Amino acid sequence: MPPYVFLLLRFIHIVIGVAWAGSVIFIAMFLLPAIKATGPNGGAVMSYLTQVKRMPSYLMGGVILTILSGLALFWNASAGFSTQWMSSGPGKTFAFGGAMGIIVAILGGAVNAPTAKRMGELGAEIAAGGGPPSAAQVAEMQRLQQRMTTAMRAASVLLLLALTAMAVARYVPS
Ligand code: HEM
Repeated sequence: MPPYVFLLLRFIHIVIGVAWAGSVIFIAMFLLPAIKATGPNGGAVMSYLTQVKRMPSYLMGGVILTILSGLALFWNASAGFSTQWMSSGPGKTFAFGGAMGIIVAILGGAVNAPTAKRMGELGAEIAAGGGPPSAAQVAEMQRLQQRMTTAMRAASVLLLLALTAMAVARYVPS
C-alpha cells in the first residue's frame, strides 16, 4: 500500500474512530440520563438532535468509515490476512478489537439508530400537538428511552473493549 494511502487510512480510522466512540460513550453516560430526567424538554432536545442535526446519520457514517478503514489497515498489516500475522499477539488483539467494533456497528444499525429516529419523530408529534402528551405517547417514549439506554450501554462496553484492544494490540507479545 502506498505510504500516503496508509497515512490517509490511519487518519480516517483514528480521528473519526475516536470522535465516534467518544460520542457514543457521551450519549450513554450523560445525554440519555439527562434526556430521561428532563421529560418534555429532553424530548425536544432529542427531536432537534435527530431531525435537525441528523445525529443518527452522522454516527452511522462515522462507524462505517471507521470499520472500512480498519479493515483496509488490517488487510495491510496482515499482508493480505496471512495466518502467521493473524495468530501473533498483535494480530489476535487487533482482530478481537475489530470484531467488537463490528458488533457495535450491527447493534447501532439494528437498534440504536431506528430507536433514536422514532424518539425524535415522537418528540416532534408531541410538540406539534401543543398540549401535554397522551398516555400512549408517554408509554411509548418511556419504552423507547429504556431500549435506547440498554443498547447504548451495551455499545459503550463493547466499544471500550474495542478501544482497549486497539490501544495495546501493537505491543501484545506473541
Ligand atoms: C470500533 C471502533 C474502532 C476504534 C475506536 C479504533 C481505534 C484505533 C486506534 C486508536 C488505532 C491506533 C493504534 C495503533 O496504531 O497502535 C487503531 C489501529 C488499528 N485498527 Fe482500529 N479501531 C476501531 C475499529 C477497528 C476495526 C473494525 C478494525 C478492523 C479489523 C480495526 C483495525 C485496526 C488496525 C489493523 C490498526 C493498526 C493500523 C496500522 O497498521 O497502523 N479497527 N484503531
